Amino acid sequence: MNYERQTIPPEKIEHQLTICHEIFDRVTAHGARPLAMVDTYGCQQNEADSEKLRGYLAEMGYGFTEDEFQADVIVVNTCAVREHAEMRVLGNVGALNHTKKAKPGQIIAVCGCMVQQQHMTEKIRQSYPIVNLVFGPHELWRFPELLWQVMEKHGRVYATDKQNGAVAEGIPRNREGSVKAWLSIMYGCNNFCTYCVVPYVRGRERSRLPEDVVREARELVSAGYKDITLLGQNVNSYGRDLDRDVDFADLIRMINDIPGDFLIRFMTSHPKDATEKLFRTMAECEKCARQLHLPVQSGSDRILKAMNRSYTREKYLEEVSAARKWMPDLVLTTDIIVGFPGETDEDFAETLSLCEQVRFDAMFTFIYSKRVGTPAATMPDPFTREEKQKHFDALTELANRISAEKHGAYIGTRQRVLVDGETGREEYNLSARTNGGRLVHLKGDPEWVGRFMDVDITGGNTWALYGKEADGNG
Ligand code: 5AD
Ligand code: SF4
Repeated sequence: MNYERQTIPPEKIEHQLTICHEIFDRVTAHGARPLAMVDTYGCQQNEADSEKLRGYLAEMGYGFTEDEFQADVIVVNTCAVREHAEMRVLGNVGALNHTKKAKPGQIIAVCGCMVQQQHMTEKIRQSYPIVNLVFGPHELWRFPELLWQVMEKHGRVYATDKQNGAVAEGIPRNREGSVKAWLSIMYGCNNFCTYCVVPYVRGRERSRLPEDVVREARELVSAGYKDITLLGQNVNSYGRDLDRDVDFADLIRMINDIPGDFLIRFMTSHPKDATEKLFRTMAECEKCARQLHLPVQSGSDRILKAMNRSYTREKYLEEVSAARKWMPDLVLTTDIIVGFPGETDEDFAETLSLCEQVRFDAMFTFIYSKRVGTPAATMPDPFTREEKQKHFDALTELANRISAEKHGAYIGTRQRVLVDGETGREEYNLSARTNGGRLVHLKGDPEWVGRFMDVDITGGNTWALYGKEADGNG
């Protein structure tokens, strides 16, 4: 594939920055600092996109608020993966009627995956007249230009054309926090799992150039970030679209070579592309966390086939064994969909037995949600919501029990953790993560935030571990 063709030329991003400065002059002309609010739904990729939206807004002179009544600009960055997320977005956008009434000049923008679906853009056009600007994920790089259009024309602006997407470098970032950072290495998805809307709204897989990724990782390390999560819908296919001899394992090695004390995490891995080379690389790279999120979705071969997942239960189990052979202390997590069209009691029993066999450290479980335009939406779906809920509850119970048992096994051990924030609670005022990414509650000095330290684990339940500073931390 021709990389040039799918890259936004740097001068176009420069032009957006020029527009930012024009907006700056306009919105700061009256003295008071204008305020913006960015409300984010969905996955980490959306969090990373919101950092870019805030980066642009900061260039335009906006400060940030969490109070929608104070905001001059509100951007709602939406998710389309499940209906529940869409309903929440629509409910919350509807509620902005009140803020707009109180502040008539307020600009309301809705962006992200939900509005890359035509029926959703139509819904907003017809039923949410308070919304001034609608733009899909492919148009994020030209947010300043779109906002400028709204300011100039006092009408509604839509930018949701169907596209395969591009890669844009040089968009400013306004990151949340100073310890953990998201680093997108690729965008889009080519897999077309039959239940999933992502390939339709986020376009085809596009990898960033390794030198761009490594440069950003270096900048993060120099800025003091200690925990870098590489993001992509399927990081294991990184580099396939590039005219280079580089894959995801190579990229991990390049980042591991950056001097400094930090951790590399990544998500999400598709089991069809996870290789022994990846597991070996993880094991050999001392900065790579012993953590793998490997969504299995179902334990039934029949359902995996209907989902177009391109692997079998057996292949998945072999991969788990290979990963654990290379990293005996690996923390393994997964995603599971319950109630895929036609999933029977027998299929579900296969999922339960796979989970019993693998014993995931944590499981993210979802009830199947029908997505417009996906192949699964037209498959016969004879089982009722109540039947699916029963399966879901049984799976949650199993997941919670195994997580509690796994966390129980940490009690009495010493773990090196990264303290990543304050909780605002008195008893355990700090939060930290183990190398494998398990949450640890601690009591201690807020100065510890951003530090790696040894902790003695004193307790654990389904959701978290509890610990205290070990003797001998320097
Ligand atoms: N319904 C329910 N869950 C879904 N996921 C993706 N699409 C759907 C859907 N239509 C889940 C998958 C994926 C996670 C991010 O969301 O488990 O791994
Ligand atoms: Fe969706 Fe499958 Fe792509 Fe993940 S790999 S984003 S589940 S289509």
